[in-house]
Amino acid sequence: MLDARWWQRGIVYQIYPRSFMDSNGDGIGDLRGIRSRLPYLAWLGVDAIWISPIYTSPMADFGYDVSDYRGIDPRFGTLDDFDALVRDAHGLGLKIILDFVPNHTSDQHPWFLESRASRESAKRGWYIWRDPAPGGGPPTNWLSEFGGPAWEWDAATGQYYYHAYLKEQPDLDWRNPEVRDAMLSVMRFWLDRGVDGFRVDTIHHLIKDSELRDNPPNPRFRPGMPPHRELLRLYTTDRPEVHEAVAAMRRVLDDYDDRVLIGEAYLPFDRLMAYYGQDLSGMHLPFNFHLIGAPWDARAIAEIVREYEAALPEGAWPNWVLGNHDKPRIKSRVGAAQARVAAMLLLTLRGTPTLYYGDEIGMCDVPIAPGEVQDPFEKNVPGLGVGRDPERTPMQWGGGAGCGFTTGRPWLPLAPDADRNNVEALRGDPGSILSLYRALIALRRAEPALAVGAYAPLAAGEGVLAYAREHAGRRLLVLLNLSSHPRRLALAAGAGGARVLLSTGLDRAGERVDEAAELRPDEGLIAEAQGAPG
Ligand code: GLC
Repeated sequence: MLDARWWQRGIVYQIYPRSFMDSNGDGIGDLRGIRSRLPYLAWLGVDAIWISPIYTSPMADFGYDVSDYRGIDPRFGTLDDFDALVRDAHGLGLKIILDFVPNHTSDQHPWFLESRASRESAKRGWYIWRDPAPGGGPPTNWLSEFGGPAWEWDAATGQYYYHAYLKEQPDLDWRNPEVRDAMLSVMRFWLDRGVDGFRVDTIHHLIKDSELRDNPPNPRFRPGMPPHRELLRLYTTDRPEVHEAVAAMRRVLDDYDDRVLIGEAYLPFDRLMAYYGQDLSGMHLPFNFHLIGAPWDARAIAEIVREYEAALPEGAWPNWVLGNHDKPRIKSRVGAAQARVAAMLLLTLRGTPTLYYGDEIGMCDVPIAPGEVQDPFEKNVPGLGVGRDPERTPMQWGGGAGCGFTTGRPWLPLAPDADRNNVEALRGDPGSILSLYRALIALRRAEPALAVGAYAPLAAGEGVLAYAREHAGRRLLVLLNLSSHPRRLALAAGAGGARVLLSTGLDRAGERVDEAAELRPDEGLIAEAQGAPG
């Protein structure tokens, strides 16, 4: 396993480009901004940066509505800026992963403008156009993920088009070979420019039922859940033919050396595994989001890890995610003390970790006043707490008015605690969460047992999650107290004890552990097993 690929050993850091660093004072982050902060990412020790979409876009869904897949949106910069970013990143040993949005375009994309122009248009079949149902109304009961029906009526041509998300995001028809060819050539365009891989957006939506069957009701639906959950997405997501499309993407990547294909799909483990593809010919890393929705409970998490490890196909590489631009931040979910334990969990599990920007400085969800809401999901479906603005607020680089993010007015409000919780302040504090993240990353890089070693669960009492990572005879113990009470964890008799390498409080390195580890409330330890005494 020592010859593991960079995307197996490495750590991925997600940048939401609107919010990372603004170089020109317009309140929106940009490519030059990211470029200026590369030394920070190198210092932090991550290996790759995944950047959410930077392509030309009307920004109905903040870049996930692309109107030119080969262009950079002027708000983010130019192709020259992009090339310079790739060059500098590579110079620092950092890989660049782009977001790829194949499921839908913007309704302003020239393809869609042509498609909607007439029923006879050469691009009509690039999107999913259907006649009304026999009695009138939409062709099926399918619902948009962002609220309301998924079919939009086009009066001029007398048909509906399908959109899994906003009506400004019409779905492409991936059954159409011309669509496939066009999208695969977009991938080649960026691979030729030097990108190291893609995070493929909402991959499980790519193919819809050819017979257009209605989705069945969701028996678990309860008031207060987002309206699209009313139906099970049986005929709109995770269709068997999607795997052919994924394999076609993978073949494109395989023509290049050492690139990575990551896929976004919120699915139960048994369905998710199919995205590795037959004989691993699909995604290198279908994102595993199961820690995001997990109850913060040692037994529940141990069970998730067990299930995931058991479900992985032979040879498939695991991965873990704690947060992203669509979900509440980890610190807001579990609190400040457990956020440190969560960091240790993410960076010691077996598999590639993806770290969401700002989590390393303990950023929280920022409350957004109703008048300041930007997210179209929240605007369409207000009051249910689905808004994604809180986890997308500007990175907190320093103190002062724009927190080092902007000299202008930030597009989303800065966190109220940004004056204290920022890179500048935390960098100099040896006990800070940023120092913890950096130490964890350094340890993971230094210890093959953490980066590529085998995983074995350890028996632990109430509230404690414990496991071993092992490589080439070196065995590390990870002991995580997910409770707010002190806990004692007996080590196996005759195991020879252990020595602490790192604790979440950054204050116990070097301590010896003999028969039992004493864990303080909300504390995690990584210790090296000393081997049985001779
Ligand atoms: C993915 C993205 C999300 C976006 C949606 C539609 O889930 O992560 O931010 O709104 O796809 O493209």
